Amino acid sequence: MLNNIITMLKDSFGRKFPYIRLSITDVCNFKCGYCLPNGYQKDKSDNRKFLSSEEIEKLAKGLSKLGVSKIRLTGGEPTVRKDLFDIIKILKNKSGIKKTVITTNGYRLDQIAEKLVDSGIDGINISIDSLNRDTFKTITGHDRLPEILKGIEKLQKLNFKNIKINAVLLNGINSTKKDFKEWSNFIKSNEITFRYIELMQTGDSIEYFKRYHISSKIFTDYLNENNWIFQTHGKDSGPSKNYIHPNYKGKFGLIAPYSKDFCESCNRLRITARGDLRLCLFGSTGINIRHLIQRDDQLDELKDLILKQLQFKKESHYLELGETGLTKNLSQTGG
Ligand code: 5AD
Ligand code: SF4
Repeated sequence: MLNNIITMLKDSFGRKFPYIRLSITDVCNFKCGYCLPNGYQKDKSDNRKFLSSEEIEKLAKGLSKLGVSKIRLTGGEPTVRKDLFDIIKILKNKSGIKKTVITTNGYRLDQIAEKLVDSGIDGINISIDSLNRDTFKTITGHDRLPEILKGIEKLQKLNFKNIKINAVLLNGINSTKKDFKEWSNFIKSNEITFRYIELMQTGDSIEYFKRYHISSKIFTDYLNENNWIFQTHGKDSGPSKNYIHPNYKGKFGLIAPYSKDFCESCNRLRITARGDLRLCLFGSTGINIRHLIQRDDQLDELKDLILKQLQFKKESHYLELGETGLTKNLSQTGG
């Protein structure tokens, strides 16, 4: 019997998947220009509810039996879920998953920082596209930057260490040397990793992409000119390229999905808020696994299905060919 043996998730290109991104809601209260420019709208063609905390528990148990050691909770905006802290508790105490981390737009961080730290969460990624209050407002549709920064300060006061900030690099909006300098000042004494993500084209955002996409070379040139040192990383550390500097407590990072070696280091699978397994952010394959997280005796079937599906994972996202797959916007899959 294979029952208790951990079968590592591995695809036909030898990539391993110790890491799952799990969306727990599509709902988001922000209106980021590259994601939900008109705000969240309910998909009327899809009546399925978001996964319940019971379903998430069964899913996480199954995943941990497949060697998954880390789950990232994403959205939409995961902190809009009322039972967020129940979910974190389940993942931390009942699932066998070693690390639970979260990606948030930070709008409630100020209020929930303490609760988050108490929950035992292992890492918090916060999206902040600009340190300029007006620019932040223009991009997200909300004047929330001061509260978000306060939330980060609270986390630091509580001595919480694993904080990352992500920004989507947008031509002419947050891509000048002045922006880079502002972030350098910010991470000089803050032990925080700040990462730019190159704008990705999604089904909904073709015009936006044409207007605002810019290669991250502009940022790597800045890093090189300012003596940031590329930190070589292990094979399984994921797609971010990090840079360190002896005079800075924080780090810079870059996620460049259009770079040629990006997919080689892919170590993640995604599960949507309604239980669709997504092999790639941009893949057009999305089979539902929800029927297999209803009862405890379905664990073997769940493992089999995920292992079989993984064999369909393609080598690359083929984004450079303009493929966007099923992805209308990233609020469904949490970036
Ligand atoms: N391109 C790049 N990153 C995106 N995100 C959302 N949409 C895009 C896109 N089109 C990322 C942002 C956001 C997170 C949830 O996903 O970092 O904060
Ligand atoms: Fe919300 Fe994140 Fe999309 Fe912005 S990028 S609208 S914060 S889901």
